[in-house]
Amino acid sequence: MLVIAEAALECVPEEISSHPAVSNRAKKLGYKAQETLLDRSYHHAAMKRLLESWKRGRPDIVHFALMEALSTPLFIQGYLDVYVHTFDNKIISMAGGLRIPKSYFRFEGLMQDLFRNGAVKSDDGSPLMEMEKGTLAELIGEAKPDRVVGLSSAGVQSNAEQVVRKNSLDRKCMFVIGGFPKGHFGDNTKALFNCTYSIENIGLEAHVVIARILYECEKMKRSS
Ligand SMILES: C[S@@+](CC[C@H](N)C(=O)[O-])C[C@H]1O[C@@H](n2cnc3c(N)ncnc32)[C@H](O)[C@@H]1O
Repeated sequence: MLVIAEAALECVPEEISSHPAVSNRAKKLGYKAQETLLDRSYHHAAMKRLLESWKRGRPDIVHFALMEALSTPLFIQGYLDVYVHTFDNKIISMAGGLRIPKSYFRFEGLMQDLFRNGAVKSDDGSPLMEMEKGTLAELIGEAKPDRVVGLSSAGVQSNAEQVVRKNSLDRKCMFVIGGFPKGHFGDNTKALFNCTYSIENIGLEAHVVIARILYECEKMKRSS
């Protein structure tokens, strides 16, 4: 399992919905302000008022991360479940084999539909993505992994191969990667990890960490 956690993906919160930077963008998109995604590229001025604003308003990070994870043979062949846990405690689950749009503009529209309706369905009515209120602790309670492994530049120094071999051989392992631009996992999140590793001696982009971990999972699956 892969979780993109504390992801900087949410709709514009009420407290900044009347700021001109927000309402101008919403007007352009033809939505109500609170139905649009919080995005630092457009809402920088308005976001100064938000709590932990440095961790928020980067839906492009989730787009990149999902593009990476959902394009892997592991996911395409049904060996990987992918979830997004958002900054404001929503859990998004992906149907097996789902492909998401490569165009960011189309991804943004899809996410806005998901936040509005709680699900995105295919033409035949089957769910492609579903969103529910929920914390990471609740997701772990439902998915019941044998181990929960956090990835962070502040973790114990290791490498992707060792992390995967040590934690997911013959075990149902949940890898948790931050879907935010700066800072570290909150204390509530860190408390859920059985262990936390750094796989490089510099900070990496989330999609690079996902690519490395999932490639090691594929190699291990092939050799087992
Ligand atoms: C852009 S980083 C967030 C910034 C954070 N300061 C950091 O370096 O972990 C996004 C995510 O990538 C993962 N990540 C970044 N560098 C990493 C590293 N050296 N080892 C393991 N995971 C890393 C973490 O899960 C992190 O939350």
